[in-house]
Amino acid sequence: MKISRWAIGASIAVVTSFLCTAVNAETIKVGVIATFSGPNAIWGKQFREAIDVYVAQHGDEVAGQKIQFIYKDVGGPNADASKAAAQELLVREGVKYLAGFDFTPNAVAVAPLLKQAKVPAVIFNAGTSSINKQSDYFLRSSFTLWQIAQPVGEWAAKNGAKKVVTAVSDYSPGIDAETAFTSAFEKNGGTVVEKIRMPVQTTDFAPFMQRIKNSGADGVFAFLPAGPATFAFTKAYNENGLKAAGISFYGTGETDETTIDALGDQAIGLITSYHYSDVHDSALNKSFVAKLQELHPGSRANMASVGAYDGVNLIYKMIAAAGGDGQKAINAAKGLEWESPRGPVKIDPESRHVIQNVYIRRVEKNADGKLVNREFVTIPNVPDLGFNP
Ligand code: PHB
Repeated sequence: MKISRWAIGASIAVVTSFLCTAVNAETIKVGVIATFSGPNAIWGKQFREAIDVYVAQHGDEVAGQKIQFIYKDVGGPNADASKAAAQELLVREGVKYLAGFDFTPNAVAVAPLLKQAKVPAVIFNAGTSSINKQSDYFLRSSFTLWQIAQPVGEWAAKNGAKKVVTAVSDYSPGIDAETAFTSAFEKNGGTVVEKIRMPVQTTDFAPFMQRIKNSGADGVFAFLPAGPATFAFTKAYNENGLKAAGISFYGTGETDETTIDALGDQAIGLITSYHYSDVHDSALNKSFVAKLQELHPGSRANMASVGAYDGVNLIYKMIAAAGGDGQKAINAAKGLEWESPRGPVKIDPESRHVIQNVYIRRVEKNADGKLVNREFVTIPNVPDLGFNP
């Protein structure tokens, strides 16, 4: 039989193309958009390390498909950089899932791209309720400000607070926090005597502390993006004598595990409302924290870690159910339930946000001398109270 050179060439081309298709079909790319540089670089670090933990525990293949994470740095809250990163990931890299999103503006910026690309985006942190209304392709594995501020507003009113000042960063999650706290606190008999909105870039909090003192309030409720801002605010609360004057502190992310050690003993006694503490008492959390310390010695798990860890779990479950089919993946995600290092969680089929326990915590010194957020009240199965406020 005579085989022409053309036929050999053609069959090689077919085989090569088949092999390439097979390799592509078996690799699903996940683009992670976050802050890996600048003053807020801790967000990207925490996300990435938690992904390492998840992959170390569960492998890098789902139903025969290899999972590849591609990281993109956007340098902080930066909508334009986030949109450009998403475009590059979708068009050039062909990612089937997007994830990350530490700051609200970075998530909002990609909303119009998701529908067009039919690609799900799992939010590991950004906490403004309205984000999930901006695209049916958003899912959220973190928390919302409504979800944590409403419970602490009610708890504060029922535990002796009468007059509170709210002090929030002046952007959308801050406004959500102010609204949620105020409505719950006032419904339960308290009065918000002043609402302070602070510029996001502020680092000098002394003038705000003076206003809180002058207001005659017995407490302050705060929201600022966790990191340098919360650190400076909490320090100013102590250094300007508010703690000494007996003005109670009702916070959110101020005492997260990555800043608590730097705050030192001045953090002891601070009350916060949140969905994760690294000393949450469960076997799953202990194994999560232990694996993180094994892979990244010196790191502490915080809300960013658990948001990423559960977010990757959600992505793995979607890939198992739907491969790279975005619409099918979103349908599969709705109603999923699992045990997280934070406690039981479920994806609300309507809001596509995580229903979870919210904990009221107090900073204490552990037996080993480490400062920790000790959970002492559990409000079970709280949905995103801001999706339909
Ligand atoms: C947000 O921008 O939604 C955000 C950022 C930092 C936080 C919480 C929320 O700690």
